[in-house]
Amino acid sequence: MGAPGQTDAGTGKGTALITGASSGIGRGLGEALARRGWAVGLAARREAELVRVAEGVREAGGRARALQCDVGVRKAVVGAVRELEKAFGPVDLLVANAGVSEDTPARTLDAGQIERIFRVNVLGMVYAVEAVLPGMLERGRGHLVGISSVAGFRGLPLRPGYSASKAAMSSFLEGLRVDLRGSGVDVTVVSPGWVRTPMTAKNEHPMPFLVELDDAVERIIRGIEGRRRHVAFPWPLATAVRVLRFLPPALYDWLGSRLVPREPRH
Ligand SMILES: NC(=O)c1ccc[n+]([C@@H]2O[C@H](COP(=O)([O-])OP(=O)(O)OC[C@H]3O[C@@H](n4cnc5c(N)ncnc54)[C@H](OP(=O)(O)O)[C@@H]3O)[C@@H](O)[C@H]2O)c1
Repeated sequence: MGAPGQTDAGTGKGTALITGASSGIGRGLGEALARRGWAVGLAARREAELVRVAEGVREAGGRARALQCDVGVRKAVVGAVRELEKAFGPVDLLVANAGVSEDTPARTLDAGQIERIFRVNVLGMVYAVEAVLPGMLERGRGHLVGISSVAGFRGLPLRPGYSASKAAMSSFLEGLRVDLRGSGVDVTVVSPGWVRTPMTAKNEHPMPFLVELDDAVERIIRGIEGRRRHVAFPWPLATAVRVLRFLPPALYDWLGSRLVPREPRH
């Protein structure tokens, strides 16, 4: 990432919408994209946090708009997109990043909790794509990016809800990518391992190959600029989970059951 205050905002790359921009990866991406000349729309629920991030971007010479919005509410997402378009013009880049991660162990399964996770992680992304894609198709250009997770490669014990939501995200975006071939709209799926953010700060379990936030943001930005189809990091973890993906179910179950505590953590 560039030094604070350093910006090439004058180059005017277009308008980017980043959801979940009040903290962690989304905040880092919003700041980094603004430094690279994007006019950024920063969406999340916590308005005070968003306003602080947007002010920081403007002080560094960039263009930013705070968009208070719950991505799980379709009308709210449409409203945020229209407000951003009015301020900075049509959205050329969407980074669907807003997400929640919670344990949803089998023995205390609560469908309401899974609904809430899917509403943000999956439907939140779908609503944002729905709001920006028609314009991109009309203009014959655009870029849809989803921050999924290596957790979506295979069903994770203790977090089946989160894991399933990330698998759904990755599959949805992959399907779109093929559908959109030749349209001028590119699609990038990002599958990070553990990144140091407020989301992982609450984890008590070991997080092998934990990536620092700036490093993660830099890797994602490189993937966006390279219009890569898939960005997965860090490589040791991404490789390990890719291998896990092809293990026969019985072997995966044996291995998976050794990776988690015997008792649910709730
Ligand atoms: N950190 C990791 O190790 C890791 C690894 C793989 C993937 N990811 C994914 O990366 C993304 C960002 O995670 P993070 O680690 O940066 O976590 P974070 O710091 O907790 O940030 C999550 C962001 O999502 C926003 N958000 C949550 N619910 C929302 C809602 N209903 N409407 C609008 N915004 C909402 C939060 O803002 P408000 O609370 O203000 O709404 C916040 O800005 C998530 O999708 C996560 O699953 C993270």
